[in-house]
Amino acid sequence: MCGIVGYLGKKEKKEILIEGLRELEYRGYDSAGIAIIKGKKLNNFKAIGKIINLEEKTNDFHSDGFGVSIGHTRWATHGKPTELNAHPHLGKYSFVVHNGIIENYQSLKTELQDDGISFLSQTDTETIVHLFEKNYKDDSFQAFKDTLDRLEGAYATLLITETAPDTIFFAKNGSPMLIGFEGDDVYFASSDTPIIGKAEEVYYLEDGEYGYAKDGIVKLFNKDGEEKRFLKEILVSDKALAQKDGYRFFMEKEIYEQSTVMSDTMMGRIVDNNIYFEELNDGLLDGINSIKICACGTSYHTALASSYLFERISKIRCDIEIASEFRYKEPLLSSDTLFITVSQSGETADTLEALKMAKRAGLKSLSICNVDNSSIVRESDASILTRAGIEKGVASTKAFATQMMVLWMFAIELAQRRNTITKENLQIEIDAMLHTPKALIVKDKLHNKLNRLAKRYLHGHGFFFIGRDIFYPLALEGALKLKEISYLHAEGYPAGEMKHGPIALADSELFTIALMPKTVHYDKIKSNVEELSARDATILAISPEPFELADDFIQTQYDNHPMLEFFEMMVITQLLALEISIRLGNDVDMPRNLAKSVTVE
Ligand code: G6P
Repeated sequence: MCGIVGYLGKKEKKEILIEGLRELEYRGYDSAGIAIIKGKKLNNFKAIGKIINLEEKTNDFHSDGFGVSIGHTRWATHGKPTELNAHPHLGKYSFVVHNGIIENYQSLKTELQDDGISFLSQTDTETIVHLFEKNYKDDSFQAFKDTLDRLEGAYATLLITETAPDTIFFAKNGSPMLIGFEGDDVYFASSDTPIIGKAEEVYYLEDGEYGYAKDGIVKLFNKDGEEKRFLKEILVSDKALAQKDGYRFFMEKEIYEQSTVMSDTMMGRIVDNNIYFEELNDGLLDGINSIKICACGTSYHTALASSYLFERISKIRCDIEIASEFRYKEPLLSSDTLFITVSQSGETADTLEALKMAKRAGLKSLSICNVDNSSIVRESDASILTRAGIEKGVASTKAFATQMMVLWMFAIELAQRRNTITKENLQIEIDAMLHTPKALIVKDKLHNKLNRLAKRYLHGHGFFFIGRDIFYPLALEGALKLKEISYLHAEGYPAGEMKHGPIALADSELFTIALMPKTVHYDKIKSNVEELSARDATILAISPEPFELADDFIQTQYDNHPMLEFFEMMVITQLLALEISIRLGNDVDMPRNLAKSVTVE
């Protein structure tokens, strides 16, 4: 969580920092700030809320000529989103920015306060800067190292100080950070997007690494304190893909893009009517008898949906775990289990830690991820990229769709390997896959209808999204989308489970979004919806089959393959959430309290 940037060089620092922070705003937007040291001059600006507020505050400020600079966009963990809690945090003569959580900050803070140091903020981060200044005698790097020795927890941090005004000190442990190089200019950032177009060479820091940048040169040390020679990589990425192109919000654009990105996801992976992943090499799947998948949020929902496919089609045991639960349950792991992580960002702290745990237990690992070179990708034995392109909307859409496609394809690939699918059924699956981009095309008529329907669903005391089988995780995802961007209470529930409690809530103010596919237990879900209708719940039914008890009805087109029904209904739930949120006047792309990538526990 939080995004950090840094720049050392002669260019206009304010602009580089603010542009970089804009790229990282998806990581949090509770507040933002920058600090610049140029010669003996210290400058510091902070603003609550989005980067635009910081931009306005710095309109008249310019900072070209050699100097060092750091910036931060915050997702609050310790302390409210106030200006005092915004980074960079200032000691007497140094500034620090930090992404992560310093777990022992309370004891450090008490120790520093006992020394007479007063704190301005409630953050864990402020301890870093005071500790640094306490440690400083006459060698800034030594003081920085002594500070790192005392920190427990996760951090990516940058520190600048008047005692070494031409230097940026950096350290990474558990939170992402990379360094970009272009001539004598050095850039730092939490992900590569702020650096694209500015530096062509990058180095992705590993956990425990730290060092400093000075005169265009970076000195890097590993966790044992040994200086490390490092190889820079070429940064290739196309930032132009992340523009709104006339859509009202990135989320809307990303819903519409799903059809085309899905073709990218499949490209080169369906060969001679077989599924083929070149990423699955080196005996990754040899000796594997079960699968465990760990993920968070939306990614957890695709994982859950895929478990039905792995068991039903690939005939392999498949357990799904929410990463934050898995980490502390002392799980029993066996080395014939393939450990799969699913993550859009590849940086989610809980998922990353779960992966490290599984690796320590000797499991082979596969990640399904949208961001190449992310921490999870680099930590995994193998990775399948979902190829959704940059996803900017905080509420995930195309990342969800492409993860689902990769997991579906992987289930079929395993079925091929394990001989659990007939040639005929394999052909049916592949035909359906190839048809998916068509099922994802958003038709004007549908979007208009959802726009009109949205106005009926702006109040009430809650929403239930219900479904069975793979449509249950889709119901969870539909409810999550609505919660995230409309702030209305919504729950996803297995339709057959409503009678065991939640049906007590049913009345005309309870909105039920019923996912009623024709290909998966239609009669069963129909009975479940009838039970709700009999108790006067307001029903929005989504189905290829007309359903006369529905208050509102959206007729879907596909009725011949569960996954085509899944994807078609997915688009409908996404658009419904989008339209409700827009009608409520919310910022769809930056919903309150959320961040796209959660790099804290
Ligand atoms: C955050 C985002 C969610 C996302 C979850 C997991 O909470 O707001 O949209 O599903 O993290 O992220 P990941 O990048 O691991 O898929």
